[in-house]
Amino acid sequence: MTPTAADHHVDSAASAQTLEARGVAVRYGTVQALQGVDLTLDSATITGLLGMNGSGKSSFFGAIMGTVKTTAGSVRLFGAAPKEARSRGLVAYMPQSENVDWDFPISVREVVMTGRYGRLGLTRRPHGRDRAAVGEALDRVGLTELASRQIGELSGGQRKRVFVARAIAQGARLLLLDEPFAGVDKASEATISALLRELRDEGCSILISTHDLAGVPELCDDVVLLKNRVLFRGEPSEALSPERLALVFGLESA
Ligand SMILES: Nc1ncnc2c1ncn2[C@@H]1O[C@H](COP(=O)(O)OP(=O)(O)O)[C@@H](O)[C@H]1O
Ligand SMILES: [Mg+2]
Repeated sequence: MTPTAADHHVDSAASAQTLEARGVAVRYGTVQALQGVDLTLDSATITGLLGMNGSGKSSFFGAIMGTVKTTAGSVRLFGAAPKEARSRGLVAYMPQSENVDWDFPISVREVVMTGRYGRLGLTRRPHGRDRAAVGEALDRVGLTELASRQIGELSGGQRKRVFVARAIAQGARLLLLDEPFAGVDKASEATISALLRELRDEGCSILISTHDLAGVPELCDDVVLLKNRVLFRGEPSEALSPERLALVFGLESA
């Protein structure tokens, strides 16, 4: 068979680096949120993004998604520009909870179906395979019983699982999770962590910001310490040394 343009896309998605960020800078007026950030991510890894409030974690997610304007540098996802990778459904993003309108009148099932929008075509009418994908994803995160609930009626942990289900239904290969454990109880955190490790084992790459340092060694393969630039990147055990943490969280003595 002659290869088609679509085949070529799949090939390049499989061979290119999951994420390649080079010299990324983000500035808001006089605030330099990010400067000279280089980061590459491979498939099948969970990378923790650690840094204090204001260190630029959310700005970096925005730069990767192409929703926050960069003043320097470049971002490639699966060898493509962020916008193109997103339109191909390769990347899923879970924003910080406070940036989501939980009063929006939409059910759990409908949110997960939005993960299929890229495939629905212009009419946005779901087919049997879309409904099946949504059903499987809900099942996988244990939300089948709550599928008809409005998202505002869910607990913090359940809300996070909705986003994970959406990423699964979408078939995303890179998951960007901005503080998914904030406001989530320990039992839900453990459930979500186990799910993320499963997705990692299936080849997904996951970049996750978190303040739960205790959970990092078990969850993450790799850690990035951020303070408006990358201070360290490496093994969790090395990243979490008292000296490094003091540096990152601004506790070092003058
Ligand atoms: N939309 C914005 N307008 C102005 N300043 C912003 C905006 N978003 C973030 N900042 C500033 O940029 C810096 C990095 O913020 P952010 O990326 O949200 O960090 P984090 O997610 O690590 O808390 C902070 O100083 C913050 O106040
Ligand atoms: Mg943030």
